[in-house]
Amino acid sequence: MTPLIAPSVLSADFANLQRDIGMLNRSQADWIHFDVMDGQFVPNISMGVPVCEAVHRHAQKPLDVHLMIVEPEKYLEAFRKAGASIISVHVEACIHLHRTLEQIKKLGCRAGIAINPHTPVSALEEIVADADLVNVMSVNPGFGGQKLIPNTFDKVARLKELILRRRSPALIEIDGGVNQENAAALLAAGADVLVAGSFVFSAPDPEAVIASLKTAVRTREV
Ligand code: DX5
Ligand code: ZN
Repeated sequence: MTPLIAPSVLSADFANLQRDIGMLNRSQADWIHFDVMDGQFVPNISMGVPVCEAVHRHAQKPLDVHLMIVEPEKYLEAFRKAGASIISVHVEACIHLHRTLEQIKKLGCRAGIAINPHTPVSALEEIVADADLVNVMSVNPGFGGQKLIPNTFDKVARLKELILRRRSPALIEIDGGVNQENAAALLAAGADVLVAGSFVFSAPDPEAVIASLKTAVRTREV
């Protein structure tokens, strides 16, 4: 199976967003990953609803919105109106996660759950069947350009088992530190979607990098 590639706008040139979105439109990217940070859930502030709306105006691919914010349920409708197709909320930020996923689906979006590196796969036992996507954070959220935490490989394999056992439709997305060296191993462990920020945007030819990630091979079916 070919992986889905979701380049992260966080590493784009914010003064040339239209140019960079144009590049993503021409590329083999499947989704456009949009990271929202509030300075509370994570120690950084990135972009919000108006920038999402601006990206959406130019994007020809689904916007995969990753909310790294407290009380995400307050902003679901705003991000839907700003063009989100997929919305992921953090399990660590949601007191009523089931209700929040239902709200996302009711808005017509695909509903994702993001989990921090220290959050065990078992935290998803009772909810994974209700998710369309699980975003496995492979770095501590808050910043682009970090190194992938090696425990991710085993964690993804355990998550894949849980998804199969619970008959969940969820895709597994890996977010943070993805590059050409680790892509094939992540896919072999069970990943379906690769987010890549700095690896794509720091390259001299970002389109070629996206194409190379797209052809990373899943060497073992889990
Ligand atoms: C990190 C964000 C990621 C980030 C990935 O908090 O959720 O989506 O953009 O960037 P890289 O690929 O540079 O690690
Ligand atoms: Zn992200």
